[in-house]
Amino acid sequence: MKQSQTIPETFLGVGYTRDRAGLPLEAVRVPVPQPAADQVLIRVAASSLNPLEYKLADLNFMGRTPPVVLGLDMAGVVVAVGNGVRGVAVGDAVAAMADLNGDGGWVATGGSGGEGGYAVARHFLTVPKPPSLSFRDAAALPMCFLSAFVGLYRAVQAGDTVYIPGGGGGVGHLAVQMAARALGAGPVISSGSTPQSMALSRQSGAHHVFNYKRDDIATEIAKLTSGRGVDLVFDATYSEQSFVETAKTVRRGGSWIVLGVGPGKTTRLVETHSPVDAILAERGAKQVNVNLLRYFSEPATLDSEAHAFLHRGMALAMEWATQGLVVPHVSQTIDSTVDAINAGLQSLKAGRGVPGKVAVIVDRDLAART
Ligand SMILES: NC(=O)c1ccc[n+]([C@@H]2O[C@H](COP(=O)([O-])OP(=O)(O)OC[C@H]3O[C@@H](n4cnc5c(N)ncnc54)[C@H](OP(=O)(O)O)[C@@H]3O)[C@@H](O)[C@H]2O)c1
Repeated sequence: MKQSQTIPETFLGVGYTRDRAGLPLEAVRVPVPQPAADQVLIRVAASSLNPLEYKLADLNFMGRTPPVVLGLDMAGVVVAVGNGVRGVAVGDAVAAMADLNGDGGWVATGGSGGEGGYAVARHFLTVPKPPSLSFRDAAALPMCFLSAFVGLYRAVQAGDTVYIPGGGGGVGHLAVQMAARALGAGPVISSGSTPQSMALSRQSGAHHVFNYKRDDIATEIAKLTSGRGVDLVFDATYSEQSFVETAKTVRRGGSWIVLGVGPGKTTRLVETHSPVDAILAERGAKQVNVNLLRYFSEPATLDSEAHAFLHRGMALAMEWATQGLVVPHVSQTIDSTVDAINAGLQSLKAGRGVPGKVAVIVDRDLAART
């Protein structure tokens, strides 16, 4: 292992300390991890909030033994590398996603004057951060960008009519930009429930944005497509209600792509009946499940092809952001403190999150560098 500065033995992380204890997260002193051969150790400058983090605290469904430190999105500086790592060196500024069954880098003493947060990331999930992209913006991308990427990258054909509900969400606003600006989709249709989230959908490139609480979106989409329906739906809302409504908008033979566990399974506790299969069967439409978590819960799926695919996704996240094609929208920036993180996660859980992303500043001095 190669390392730079003196690395402390422990840091005061933020995470859950008991199995299925839920929020609030707590401060917990943990060892700074040592990178394995295929890992880098990152001193974290910035991170972001993801719904996965309150869900892991609620259900611990990746089977971890607490304490588990969260903060799985990160941007920072490499301070040590495993022996098998090539292409990323100590001192490099990087963006990375921690393994989703691993630990993240939130510290309880974030902002300025803190002791620093450290987390390991696998080499294939770590990419150089371009100087023109801030640590804050780079850290807003990994999990949400990769989610949009696994859903859309090989699925959108140039000119396709695409419906992405929730285009003001963390995944949704990146997915709308990706479809409309990077992958050459035709008309992109989206939805939201507040003026702010609907505005972000439009700003992200959606040509038509409906209010899913007020509008009969299936009827509106039928009007827009001369009764045909859309070629492709990407539903990353994790809402059973949304799944049913969006399935009704796919054309005959089209694709309905869902992020996560899929219809009937969103509680993760009990399986509920969902009419989605029947709606899609009636249209001869294809259901495709995409799920970043599965790569970590079923390690056999994380083969060399998946490594290369996810690495390509991380590299494109940086490239498209610097080109202005797929840019993270950070509505709120908080310091990495127990209270601020708990308040942000509570809002996300209650469906009162801000449009786009909440950034977390783990180390203000480091985050101010390019
Ligand atoms: N398994 C995986 O690979 C994976 C990866 C990443 C994320 N996820 C999951 O994906 C979900 C979304 O993540 P996120 O970061 O984008 O969360 P987020 O920022 O909270 O966004 C959720 C979005 O869903 C929209 N929405 C909620 N109910 C809707 C409905 N009935 N119809 C249309 N839109 C609806 C919201 O719109 P308004 O705010 O306008 O109401 C919001 O834009 C979370 O549950 C997360 O855990 C799974």
